[in-house]
Amino acid sequence: MLDLADAMIESAVGVTPVPLGVADGFLIDGETVAVPLAVEEPSILAAATFGARILSEEHGILTWFTYPVMTAQVFVEGNSDRVAAAIEHGDEQIRDCLAEPLASITARGGGLRRISTQRMADPPCVKVCIDVDVRDAMGANLLNTAAEIAGRRISEIAGAPVAMAILTNSACARRAGAEFDIDVSSLARTADGETPGADVARRICLASDIAHADSDRAVTHNKGIMNGISGLALATGNDTRAIEAAAHAWAAREGRYTALSTFTTDGERLRGSLELPLPFATVGGAVGMHPASRYALAILGNPTAARLARIAAAVGLVQNFAALNALVTAGIQQGHMRLHAERIAFTAGARDSEIRKVAAALAQTGAFDVETARAVLADIRSRR
Ligand code: MEV
Repeated sequence: MLDLADAMIESAVGVTPVPLGVADGFLIDGETVAVPLAVEEPSILAAATFGARILSEEHGILTWFTYPVMTAQVFVEGNSDRVAAAIEHGDEQIRDCLAEPLASITARGGGLRRISTQRMADPPCVKVCIDVDVRDAMGANLLNTAAEIAGRRISEIAGAPVAMAILTNSACARRAGAEFDIDVSSLARTADGETPGADVARRICLASDIAHADSDRAVTHNKGIMNGISGLALATGNDTRAIEAAAHAWAAREGRYTALSTFTTDGERLRGSLELPLPFATVGGAVGMHPASRYALAILGNPTAARLARIAAAVGLVQNFAALNALVTAGIQQGHMRLHAERIAFTAGARDSEIRKVAAALAQTGAFDVETARAVLADIRSRR
């Protein structure tokens, strides 16, 4: 394991294991899917499984994906007609210099899709955007190499220095979405004294409207979505920071940070939908190199990157649906504290079957602290 860590990063001193769970029961585009999630937060798996189960009682979640296109940006210093015109006229030369670095992805059906220029007033620059179809890769290495090669040629063509050349993580062309609709009656709760399903659905829609209206709430709402998406990204060895950055930039694309998902009712149906950039890869980087990522991809049936992004969108929406469902009914602490109690029991020294017993006793007394857990554990052991 240390050899692998050493090969992956510099100055490696060890590895940090994160629990890997499988949330099963997802019905995505008519196919049953078990979803691997790498997370440290106790309630994420339970929420995913709960949400997936309710939705799979009907037709599950439907998803879509746009194109695996990523964009490299080359910023040329100065904003003059001459620089912009020179770059536009040099289009053929820029394409030529990209042929070699993009040869292998082109052979796989991807490759250069478009070169466009845009003038920036402040700071004065010309921005050159190079759109590349990266197929199943995340594309960062490929685009950064292409951007630097193109940057040198562009500088020669423009007779002006290049400020920098790098991909943009916004990935806004590489979007996936998910949606579902279910009969509101499946949301009825008996545990808290018969809350009718229509009432739960109305409250979920209100929670969604609040997240659209209030940016601070939207951050937490979206965090719930990313609980699923980042967990899947980490499990499959994907770049969680890139995916998070793209998602939050998309949430703020209109100049104000807002919710990524929307819930509405239409008669007796509750409808949920989610759309965001999802630059997931199934080859390259740590994906496939790390044995845990290979294992996670195998659980998913070794999907294409497009399919993995669609699964991620479904998992994000289900996670969000489960969180809102809990928030507008019993609240989330009831479930959280039950799982938290197990952690306290473990910290107090409980092992195996003792963990459940100590946790149950803590939940009964309502005292969720290590001292009480130690006392309960001592009592259990003394009665053996
Ligand atoms: C906790 O990890 C996620 C939630 O806070 C999401 C939400 O509030 O919608 C429960």
